[in-house]
Amino acid sequence: MIVVTGGAGFIGSNFVLDWLANPKAEGIINLDKLTYAGNLSTLAPLAKDPRHIFIKGDIGDSTLVTNLLQQHRPRAIINFAAESHVDRSIHGPADFIQTNILGSFNLLECTRTYWNSLPTEEQQQFRFLHVSTDEVYGSLGASDAAFKETTAYEPNSPYSASKAASDHLVRAWFHTYGLPVLTTNCSNNYGPYHFPEKLIPLVILNALNGQPLPIYGDGMQVRDWLYVGDHCAAIRRVLEKGTLGETYNVGGWNEKANLEVVKTICAILDELRPRPNGGSYAEQIRFVTDRPGHDRRYAIDASKLERELGWKPAETFATGIRKTVEWYLVNPEWVAGVQSGSYRDWINQHYVA
Ligand code: NAD
Ligand code: DAU
Repeated sequence: MIVVTGGAGFIGSNFVLDWLANPKAEGIINLDKLTYAGNLSTLAPLAKDPRHIFIKGDIGDSTLVTNLLQQHRPRAIINFAAESHVDRSIHGPADFIQTNILGSFNLLECTRTYWNSLPTEEQQQFRFLHVSTDEVYGSLGASDAAFKETTAYEPNSPYSASKAASDHLVRAWFHTYGLPVLTTNCSNNYGPYHFPEKLIPLVILNALNGQPLPIYGDGMQVRDWLYVGDHCAAIRRVLEKGTLGETYNVGGWNEKANLEVVKTICAILDELRPRPNGGSYAEQIRFVTDRPGHDRRYAIDASKLERELGWKPAETFATGIRKTVEWYLVNPEWVAGVQSGSYRDWINQHYVA
């Protein structure tokens, strides 16, 4: 067995579905608190698969996590669970401190106790993989080199500061206690099951609903986009082949300005689902007030992962974004399910107020 935390969220659920698509794969204990960002409907295809055990719970609950580890005796834990949305961290940072820092601390401590109780051979095989972000490195200027694993941490938002703190805890648990950890720092993901508070799914769905496409500031902020399936493949590779205590940057070599991303989505939709009035979806673009402390540019240098572990992304941005738009067009039920009351509250609070 392996334990996945946050496996009902965007990346975690893609990881669980990809992992269990292999008939020979070990089972997964999926521990998720089911916050607004967790959706069990994403995991519906696994309802009859005995290899998937879902447990609703908090990584910060030490009794629950301790019992879970003792009962299922996993050979690895992959920690996806987090509060992940930068704008929400600006409106209300407390949940980010609670889950991303204190929750990760609790998970590490429970894991350490469990790991210490294992026989030597199982201790040697055990892995704790912490899934983190490129945002911990801060913001790049236009001509700066891409983030390497050695780039100094300079987080600028409550979200990235809380993720940076968790990365430091993971590092310390390796150096102080010998816990066999691995950390991945990934750039912006996109793909199926992405919650529509984030730029790409928000724009696809607002476009289809005739709503404004909100661009913060001048829209020239750069993100480095990676298709979620490529991120999942990278995590599997690091889990199996990564060197203990090391960090690995994961990215798609796909730097794009936000405005370009939005215009690309509009062009694909113009082709696949033309507007009834014949105009382009790009006419719905609106420039809105910028995000406070908005990082200007992220770019990941993923050459260590390619050189040492042989991982490369399979998708280009052109192939991945088309697949993504197509997925949202053919999955209106999933979309309707996640656009619940609490989702509408967020949209009203953030974009209208
Ligand atoms: P998400 O917000 O879509 O999902 C997070 C999941 O964690 C949800 O299912 C939620 O219910 C669960 N969760 C939250 N608090 C919890 C707690 N206390 N205990 C148990 N479960 C809890 O996030 P995501 O986009 O899938 O990101 C997953 C991880 O990857 C995060 O750690 C994030 O920092 C990291 N990451 C995300 C991106 C990206 O572009 N989305 C890029 C790099 C790294
Ligand atoms: O870089 C990795 C990070 O990518 C992850 O660690 C985070 O969990 C994930 O949410 C993502 O953070 P971003 O802030 O980059 O993603 P988001 O989709 O919120 O925004 C992408 C860019 O688009 C960013 O520059 C802000 C901008 N934006 C976003 C929204 C929601 C807009 O211009 N308008 C919007 O309405």
